[in-house]
Amino acid sequence: MKKLVLIAGARPNFIKISPLMRTMARSYGDRLNPILVHTGQHYDHEMSQAFFDELEIPPPDYYLGVGSGSHANQTAQIMIAFEEVCLQEEPDVVVVVGDVNSTVACALVAKKLGIRVAHVEAGLRSYDLTMPEEINRMVTDVLSDFLFVTERSGINNLKKEGKADRAIHFVGNVMVDTLYFQLSRLEKTENPSPQPAEPFAVLTLHRPSNVDDEEKLREIMGAMAIIAAELPIYFPVHPRTQQCLQAVGFTEGRMWKNLTFLPPLPYQTFLRLWKDAALVLTDSGGMQEETTALGIPCLTLRENTERPVTINEGTNILAGTSASTILAAYASFKTSGGKRGRIPELWDGKAAERIVAVLAED
Ligand code: UD1
Repeated sequence: MKKLVLIAGARPNFIKISPLMRTMARSYGDRLNPILVHTGQHYDHEMSQAFFDELEIPPPDYYLGVGSGSHANQTAQIMIAFEEVCLQEEPDVVVVVGDVNSTVACALVAKKLGIRVAHVEAGLRSYDLTMPEEINRMVTDVLSDFLFVTERSGINNLKKEGKADRAIHFVGNVMVDTLYFQLSRLEKTENPSPQPAEPFAVLTLHRPSNVDDEEKLREIMGAMAIIAAELPIYFPVHPRTQQCLQAVGFTEGRMWKNLTFLPPLPYQTFLRLWKDAALVLTDSGGMQEETTALGIPCLTLRENTERPVTINEGTNILAGTSASTILAAYASFKTSGGKRGRIPELWDGKAAERIVAVLAED
């Protein structure tokens, strides 16, 4: 029996871990022994437990309870606690997903103990080292023995960095596995709260470079107020963003007519909302991919993306972070009716099956 330790720390990790855990339990019960570690990077009920419940992720075998802190502090806390887990469990492989601090911290601990590391969502590059996620991605890939790639750009990036062909596996996108699986479930259940009747947009915002910087936040929110006057915007607010909005005195009120602030939403409630949106405005990596998968126009509130397939093939457009570029992108959305795209190669809901097959064989 091969022992795998899987790491989940932050909200997008839970979405990616879910199809891996389900596939292992369904088809590999006699060959793989998965052990789930929740680092506690995200801890609020609506950022964590709500996702475990809805995505039917089994309770973690270990909860490290690290919580928030500076990057060094959070990363160090995770490393110290996770080393104990590795020493106790002696796994064959540690599986990390995405690009959060939990990803890099656990990869580093495992590799130094001589344990093989598998990275799900390897090879994505923005080449923007001011993003903590880019640092996490690059370091994690250097350390990984299995590199599971979501789009072809990832293969090229990893080869340029000298990774061996045999370590690179182009498997598709586990985020999309969860999306299709949960969408099919949603279609079978009744909507407890009716959708907005008029066309609407959905906004998400949490990148430190957008929300921690007061000027940037004012630019973006200024553009949102103008767009919302024409197209109502629903805005589930990430805890980081909540703190930043409060700090500059932005709270829901008359100045935000047609811009509805919501708490962070559980997966299905959020999907139920955005799947019918006319437009998504976001700085999230996952949302860029999910909107491409469902063919919904997306304006990304960033200067670059590590997910070029969403632009080259999907519905995504880089709108920048100043009010003028965002409003120009919105104007072109209005005249064109929104960018159309196609679903990228292997985004077919079966990425987890491909990943687990490789892990079980090797
Ligand atoms: C993290 C990831 C980011 C990912 C995002 C998804 C890193 C470096 N960043 O960013 O890649 O896209 O998660 O959400 O790992 N907080 C709460 N409750 C929680 C979690 C966080 O209140 O359950 C607050 C804390 O005060 C903290 C802030 O939100 O200071 C930011 O949390 P943190 O995990 O540091 O980074 P995120 O911005 O969420």
